[in-house]
Amino acid sequence: MSAVVVTGGTGKTGKTLVRVLRNAGVRARAASRNPAGADPDAIRFDWNDPTTFGPALDGMGGAFLLAPVESVDPLPLVEPFLREARRAGVRRLVLLGSAIVLPNAPSAMELAARVQAQPGGVVLRASGFMQNYLRPHPLARHMHRSGEIRTAAGDGKLGWVDARDIAASAAALLTDLERDARSDYLITGPHGMSYPQAARIITAKTGREIRVRRITEKEQAAAYRASGMPTEFADALAAVERGIEEGREDRVSTAVLELTGRPPRAFAEFVSDHAYEWTQ
Ligand SMILES: NC(=O)c1ccc[n+]([C@@H]2O[C@H](COP(=O)([O-])OP(=O)(O)OC[C@H]3O[C@@H](n4cnc5c(N)ncnc54)[C@H](OP(=O)(O)O)[C@@H]3O)[C@@H](O)[C@H]2O)c1
Repeated sequence: MSAVVVTGGTGKTGKTLVRVLRNAGVRARAASRNPAGADPDAIRFDWNDPTTFGPALDGMGGAFLLAPVESVDPLPLVEPFLREARRAGVRRLVLLGSAIVLPNAPSAMELAARVQAQPGGVVLRASGFMQNYLRPHPLARHMHRSGEIRTAAGDGKLGWVDARDIAASAAALLTDLERDARSDYLITGPHGMSYPQAARIITAKTGREIRVRRITEKEQAAAYRASGMPTEFADALAAVERGIEEGREDRVSTAVLELTGRPPRAFAEFVSDHAYEWTQ
């Protein structure tokens, strides 16, 4: 089996992916700015330092690509990485992309197209992460403090997916590099869910009463900015909620089942697995 480098290897998706790959007997190199000292196969990798790209890709047959986070224009930083991946002979490149295209971030689509043009390039277009309901995400921090979900998305639904299922889907593609694959998968949970529905599930499963407060897109952008997000990114994320409210993001797929052989986790299962988040 070929070795795999996992960028964002210490993040929510990457960390799980590294563990799943290693459990399957695949050598997985965890790449991030702060490699864990205790992990002999961790490597320093920084999107702002292209000299770290070559060593991270050296000897790798597969790569998981987590583009610079909180950027509305990741392409200029990722392009040299794609060139380096071709040079290194990477045979499967899996990009963690998004089902939702941020309104002021056209380069995300361009990035997806560039990855698909690479040898073995696959884009996982992930829906909203269930992990956004866990701290330190601003949604979760506010919910923990006030018992409220603030949203501008009304009753609009999203196909929320557990990041563990995204990692499992990526692992399926990176464990078997010869596996037949499409160049694009929409990765979602089993059904669409609105914020009010999420609040009801959390309340029922944990006993902590969670209410929904409906706010405007402008108020949401201000809240994201106040949580420390860069202005452009905060505005784009808030604008996404309008699309959700209008029903434009209410999509689900069978891709997790297709790739992993297991149906994706439902939100109720996710909440049970993380009940401590609401009871402490
Ligand atoms: N949340 C959602 O609802 C959602 C939905 C769809 C798609 N997505 C996509 O998912 C991605 C985030 O995935 P995640 O939540 O698994 O990640 P995450 O938990 O936010 O972790 C980010 C990872 O990237 C590393 N990192 C940060 N800045 C870096 C830099 N300059 N150079 C190198 N590495 C860097 C971090 O490690 P260090 O800090 O140690 O470097 C960490 O390993 C984003 O691309 C987002 O667009 C999210």
